[in-house]
Amino acid sequence: MWGNKALVAMRLILSLLLLLSAAIPHATASSDYHEQLNLRSLHPSLLLASFNFQSNTSLTSFEQQNFRYFPRSLGQILQHANTRELHLRFSLGRWDAESWGARPWGGAREGGTGVELWAWVEAESDEEADGRWLTLTNALSGLFCASLNFIDSTRTIRPVMSFEPAGNHSSSTLDNLHLLHGTLPREVVCTENLTPFLKLLPCKGKAGISSLLDGHKLFDASWQSMSIDVKPICEPGSSDCQLQITQTIDMVLDLQRSKRPRDNPIPRPVSYEELRCDLSKDYHSHDTCFPLDAAAQEEEWILSHIFGHPLKGTCPLADDGIDPVCINVPHARHVYASEGAHEHKDESGYKRCFALSPDKDFEIILPQQEISEKSPLEQPLLYAERSFIGYGQESGGVQAILTNPSSTNAIEFVYLETLPWFMKLYLHTLKAKINGVEEDIIKEMYYRPALDRKRGTQLEIRILIPANSTVVLTYDFEKAILRYTEYPPDANRGFDIAPAVITIGDIAIRTTSLLLPLPTPDFSMPYNVIILTSTVMALSFGFIYNLLIRRFVAIDEADQWDVRAVRLKVLAVAQKFMSRFLEKRSKDGKDD
Ligand SMILES: *[C@@H]1O[C@H](CO)[C@@H](O)[C@H](O)[C@H]1NC(C)=O
Ligand SMILES: *[C@@H]1O[C@H](CO)[C@@H](O)[C@H](O)[C@H]1NC(C)=O
Ligand SMILES: *[C@@H]1O[C@H](CO)[C@@H](O)[C@H](O)[C@H]1NC(C)=O
Repeated sequence: MWGNKALVAMRLILSLLLLLSAAIPHATASSDYHEQLNLRSLHPSLLLASFNFQSNTSLTSFEQQNFRYFPRSLGQILQHANTRELHLRFSLGRWDAESWGARPWGGAREGGTGVELWAWVEAESDEEADGRWLTLTNALSGLFCASLNFIDSTRTIRPVMSFEPAGNHSSSTLDNLHLLHGTLPREVVCTENLTPFLKLLPCKGKAGISSLLDGHKLFDASWQSMSIDVKPICEPGSSDCQLQITQTIDMVLDLQRSKRPRDNPIPRPVSYEELRCDLSKDYHSHDTCFPLDAAAQEEEWILSHIFGHPLKGTCPLADDGIDPVCINVPHARHVYASEGAHEHKDESGYKRCFALSPDKDFEIILPQQEISEKSPLEQPLLYAERSFIGYGQESGGVQAILTNPSSTNAIEFVYLETLPWFMKLYLHTLKAKINGVEEDIIKEMYYRPALDRKRGTQLEIRILIPANSTVVLTYDFEKAILRYTEYPPDANRGFDIAPAVITIGDIAIRTTSLLLPLPTPDFSMPYNVIILTSTVMALSFGFIYNLLIRRFVAIDEADQWDVRAVRLKVLAVAQKFMSRFLEKRSKDGKDD
């Protein structure tokens, strides 16, 4: 009897195990997840680190709540808010295109300073889309510990010419898709946004290249951008579509700063022996030194010094044979990798990748080396900068300088500007000058004026820049006066104006954000009034109290007044005062 029961239990356990093993995807099947880290030196003594994490999940299993590599928390938000495509960006700092060249991913994974979010939401009407957008921003705000819930109607726009869906949507869904876009230029991206970002990854920052990501280093970067893109992709000919999630982190790290010891991070002057001087200058002597351009020599760096610790093995889920770490340096540059890693050199002559051993720490060392060969800098499609012009408290102007560096190709793009309602644009002042001459190069324009306290200005312009030319776009605006309560606590800092977005085909690049000073009331006034009133009250109280209490006597009489008599007198006066007061109170009470 007893043996029979044990047998039944054994069978049950066995069948359960079988079921489980069937449910877990087979480990040897080709993976739908991959990750890669690309390192590239930038001038002068900077390092660009680009992390890329991507996974594909079948759309039908996603809809059945079988999320596989797709993060469940984000998946449920997208399902709840009927969002078919999502793009979220967190950025800090300025990309210096003049010396660093083209942006990583050509700018496709980059956002404006602060937080930027745009999504295609499926809805029957505009109102329904607005409701779902509200749900989406509030849920994402909780997920990423960011103030995304502050993206309200004044900060939301529906771009008309900028942004195209990046994924494949069926034509029936396409008709009901609503594009909404919001920015928060004031939001400071920090460690609390990185932690939820890492939690979305299959290896959660514990193994693989994501183990390098550390808030201290990431937010010490000169420029930094985190992105999340979710889109459906359908292979032509295949029946099932995939939902693709791509997460990237790009940062420009300062090699000099990362070498400073952690407990002593303050830069100190170099000692005389370590100075590297340009001996060819005729004024060079024992007490004058012209510093040698560091670029003539490739600097030494070590991966674990830059990120604080070495890379901890590989992520076991990324087993599609793609090398997880790549470094863009000429083949002539010496690169030493730790034991167990296999180096693969690219034919281009400027790139090599490493296959890592799964559970050993990985380390790269680039020694100091005299080398004239450099990896070529990629030229950006367009240089863009934007600044304020004009003067005075009540009005001002904006100037955007857009340069097409190509000597052969003209370039067409859409310039999108979203301004807060208190920055009132004068459309008739909008001018475009090409190489200094005013010309009609604006092909198409969409303009939606602002409504006070309800929505901001939206301006989209399609421009064609001929090869090798510069366009200067200018317009004037007027500053509104805000209500006293509408100013932030640090009113004199100014108001952040969202970056302009320049859409060229399927990529978008951004200018930096601007800081607009508004006429600010003197917030010290109430304080002054309180101080003055308090002083007057204190003075008058002292004066009256003095009159009530003090008794004036001649100096020769003073001796007859002993202290006890004075005390009694004071008490009598106080009692009289009190009784009169109480009498009045009871009388008032009776009147009621
Ligand atoms: C996801 O699917 C696309 C298209 O089939 C493919 O190009 C991409 O490499 C896949 N990504 C992963 C991580 O498998
Ligand atoms: C999906 O989009 C890609 C690129 O936009 C395109 O090449 C492909 O044909 C599309 N697939 C389908 C099934 O429409
Ligand atoms: C580009 O323009 C500059 C001045 O505007 C000119 O000196 C230069 O020769 C031009 N380059 C080409 C390739 O046309």
